[in-house]
Amino acid sequence: MNILVTGITGQLGYDVAKCLNAREIPCVGAGRAELDLADGICIRQYIQKVRPDAVIHCAAYTDVNRAQSERELCRAVNVEGTKHIAAVCQELGAKLLFVSTEYVFPGEGDGYYRTTDATAPLNVYGESKRDAELAVAECMERYFIVRISCAFGAHGKNFVSTMLKLGREKEEIRVVCDQIGSPTYTVDLAELLCDMVMTEKYGVYHATNEGVCSFAELAQEVMRQAGLSAKIIPILAKDYPSPAIRPKNSRLDKSSLDCAGFCRLPEWKDALRRYLKEIGV
Ligand SMILES: NC(=O)c1ccc[n+]([C@@H]2O[C@H](COP(=O)([O-])OP(=O)(O)OC[C@H]3O[C@@H](n4cnc5c(N)ncnc54)[C@H](OP(=O)(O)O)[C@@H]3O)[C@@H](O)[C@H]2O)c1
Repeated sequence: MNILVTGITGQLGYDVAKCLNAREIPCVGAGRAELDLADGICIRQYIQKVRPDAVIHCAAYTDVNRAQSERELCRAVNVEGTKHIAAVCQELGAKLLFVSTEYVFPGEGDGYYRTTDATAPLNVYGESKRDAELAVAECMERYFIVRISCAFGAHGKNFVSTMLKLGREKEEIRVVCDQIGSPTYTVDLAELLCDMVMTEKYGVYHATNEGVCSFAELAQEVMRQAGLSAKIIPILAKDYPSPAIRPKNSRLDKSSLDCAGFCRLPEWKDALRRYLKEIGV
């Protein structure tokens, strides 16, 4: 089994490649320099050269706010780039594991979104990932789509690292308290993705650490575990204007993992503890 990991310079891609290496599963990691997702010819030539048995596609245009004003680029990378990867995988008979997002959902109510629920993204980034999902499902037979949320890992910028930085600089931090979801530690997710890609259990999955919290609760726990004294001031999303609208409810139902016999990820506070240890806090 030879696995190609895209987005190797990103927080998830890095941890996926590390996990495959630890398991001694042959893997090739591609960054933007080798595999530019905005360049269809480059994608085709590169994947044909590597001839992977499976691709774990972690690379994406991930700047949710900037996507609102860079729609073309976001779609070129996330939709067209993924379409090209899917088409070559299908031709080569390779599996594709596509990492997607809870932003495909509108975030209404307070229930848990099932993998089969209708998508209706609220922002350009979410729409691009939803359209990429559709493209994968349309042109491939052997694919996994794994929706995650609020990723944090040691090799990238994320909400937790931002809170740590602000917590050291400020006495008070205003954080949104009416957007609820589950954080995802990329080390934990990488283990699941590496398990999954070795199977034939194709389909759509939701995967985050267990438990739910608001961004304000997550920030509060970051301060507590890191021993920082900054005060978290809960505010409403409407009082924190940003270019992209975000879903209020990002609770994801993970029963498709159970049905397929995959282990759920550990609880998010435990994941946070291990992340802080990993980055030396
Ligand atoms: N971060 C989150 O909270 C979150 C939440 C839900 C879903 N996801 C999804 O999870 C996956 C992994 O995200 P992440 O947190 O690891 O993101 P990340 O740290 O921002 O990394 C993104 C990766 O994509 C690469 N990339 C961006 N544009 C590219 C292009 N034109 N050609 C080739 N590579 C390109 C980046 O390369 P450079 O280093 O060169 O920029 C980087 O390696 C993505 O599919 C994302 O949509 C993330």
